[in-house]
Amino acid sequence: MIFTVAIDGPAAAGKGTIGRTLAARFGFAHLDTGLLYRAVGAKGGDPLAAARSLVPADLERGDLRSQEAGQAASRVAAIPEVRAALAAFQKDFARREGGAVLDGRDIGTVICPEAEVKLYITASAEVRAHRRWLEVGGDEAKVLAEVRERDARDMGRADAPLRPAGDALQLDTSEMSIDEAVAKAVSAVEARLG
Ligand code: CDP
Ligand code: CDP
Repeated sequence: MIFTVAIDGPAAAGKGTIGRTLAARFGFAHLDTGLLYRAVGAKGGDPLAAARSLVPADLERGDLRSQEAGQAASRVAAIPEVRAALAAFQKDFARREGGAVLDGRDIGTVICPEAEVKLYITASAEVRAHRRWLEVGGDEAKVLAEVRERDARDMGRADAPLRPAGDALQLDTSEMSIDEAVAKAVSAVEARLG
């Protein structure tokens, strides 16, 4: 069976948590595509060379979850050639046999416009920054500034800007628990699976 769930949205909206849960529930493979850009940013040097030579071990680095890695990822993600170098792997993953869930910024718009289910998960910047701050600690105002900076860069870039696909189910989770958000995502997949 070929069945793709595309999950897009800004930082700390809940994409990864929803993606992991859907994958476990339906037995689909899961790809956190942000990790690819984080790994390219963390490698340093020429971003295009880093993207072209990415290997699975690069995704295992422990420092990829930091705020700095997120900022570096969003800078290299604005380079069209870097995006192109990472596209084929993601497209193949999306259409693999057995079902796949991918979360990122351009899954429903660019990587897999034919996805059977498209979700656009969002929440206010303040709520998302608070969630991220609970995970990383430090100065919450700084985390909010970084979230806003990354949102602006990801939504404002010319190539594959973050935006909801026309046929995406949009979920604003500002006042939703993660369990409620997951339940809505599960319903959307079940409805399409029939
Ligand atoms: O992948 P993305 O950056 O969009 O978000 P995440 O890492 O899945 O979620 C960020 C954090 O917010 C996690 O600790 C979630 O449990 C929490 N959270 C959420 O995602 N959605 C809610 N409605 C409530 C909390
Ligand atoms: O978990 P969080 O939402 O904070 O970030 P992420 O999903 O790990 O993505 C890190 C950065 O990679 C984003 O801010 C985007 O600039 C970039 N990205 C992208 O351009 N396209 C994707 N499909 C996934 C991530």
